[in-house]
Amino acid sequence: MTVHYIAAKPNVVQPGVSQKDLPPADTPRVRLSQVISALSYALDMTEGQPTGHAIRSCIIGMRLASEIRLPAAKLSALFYALLLKDSGCSSNAGRVCSLFGADDLTVKRNFKTVDWSRFSQSLGYVARNVSPNASPVQRALRMMSLAFEGQKAAKDIVQIRCERGEQIARMLDLPEETARAIRSLDEHWDGHGHPDGLKGKDIPLLSRILGLAQTVEVFFTTYGLGAAFDMLQERRGTWFDPTLVDAFLPVRADRAFWDRLKYDDLQEQIVGLEPEDRVLIADDARVDRIAEAFAKVVDAKSSWTYRHSENVAEIAVGIGEILSLPANELRKLRRAALLHDIGKLGISNLILDKAGPLTDEERDEMKGHARKTREILARISCFSEIATLAASHHERLDGTGYYQGLEGDSISTLARILTVADIYDALTSDRPYRRASTREEALEIMRRDVGAALCRRAFTGLDLFLRKHRYGVD
Ligand SMILES: [Fe+2]
Ligand SMILES: [Fe+2]
Repeated sequence: MTVHYIAAKPNVVQPGVSQKDLPPADTPRVRLSQVISALSYALDMTEGQPTGHAIRSCIIGMRLASEIRLPAAKLSALFYALLLKDSGCSSNAGRVCSLFGADDLTVKRNFKTVDWSRFSQSLGYVARNVSPNASPVQRALRMMSLAFEGQKAAKDIVQIRCERGEQIARMLDLPEETARAIRSLDEHWDGHGHPDGLKGKDIPLLSRILGLAQTVEVFFTTYGLGAAFDMLQERRGTWFDPTLVDAFLPVRADRAFWDRLKYDDLQEQIVGLEPEDRVLIADDARVDRIAEAFAKVVDAKSSWTYRHSENVAEIAVGIGEILSLPANELRKLRRAALLHDIGKLGISNLILDKAGPLTDEERDEMKGHARKTREILARISCFSEIATLAASHHERLDGTGYYQGLEGDSISTLARILTVADIYDALTSDRPYRRASTREEALEIMRRDVGAALCRRAFTGLDLFLRKHRYGVD
């Protein structure tokens, strides 16, 4: 699906955008909501949810807002909180994986349907998800340790996610209410939620809407409309604000509303939901911020890649400057470097964090991240021009790379620079199966491939950049 540019509205000043910041009237502009909604598909993938989960949650939450006549001033904050509610979801993936000894994507998918306040449901969930391929004894041991850590582990998992989510909202300069709503979306009306154990009206109203909307979406998509409303009635007063539940009950009869949620034009549907007088525009500076924010989402997926995307961006731009590339090429290169591994959001941490060698099947899945990067970025208009570049970071000049097996001149200068920067940062970082190389060791390893697999010019640029900035030297 492609995000379409919207026509600029000359002389209309949008709240949050000062007149002097507005681009010239003939500059094509894209709504921030279209960029974020397209990126939310990557968040759905990380959270193990069916495609479109965040957007459907947004549509449901905005409908609830309209039922309770939420003041216009809060609608924009709610709208972005609904779209970005899972932006912290990658940060707890490693913890979920190690705690359950299982694929984080599967564990997370099942997580949202369980009523944690019911002991039997919690126990059943743990039993179904813990170490699925281990022996009965190992599974029993893992269950015992989970029972021991129990509530604390659940709180940690939610806390990591919520704190990271609110940071991402702040990075994007969204209203403070958006950040607070994301932080508290897993609080429960009866005080048994996380991370702060807030109760009743101490939970921000927008968070109460988020919690209800996302749970209704998961039940509706997984089990159907009847199950979604049965769940709402059951959790009225425990998980959810009774007033919100009562306000939402009549929506059940609106068959057209629920039917539309099954269409595949979800991105078009939400265009009309952003309050028209508060439309936020993704200008160049904001698109850069989005790339920086999602680089953090990507890097948080595994503790082994902490700062990887940021480092690759810094090194790649440094090489580009040494090679005297023009400013617009450098900007493209930086965005591509920040987002080059976004496809890893769809890879299980069982593979990303594996201490031993990967099996053939696991290696194939890992290699698939480059293709996923292209698929994610290609559907976002402001990133579509860097989609191929970002996805080319494992290609080699001699055709031995992936995912397309490109050769020689079919690999652009920017892609060659990106590849060199990516390899250098990977080699100089610890991995679960080896220690980090020193700067000299990494350069020596790479030198062996220069000319055959790696671009000589890009490698020379790397060498000069490292010397000039003493990069990587304490
Ligand atoms: Fe990669
Ligand atoms: Fe990478």
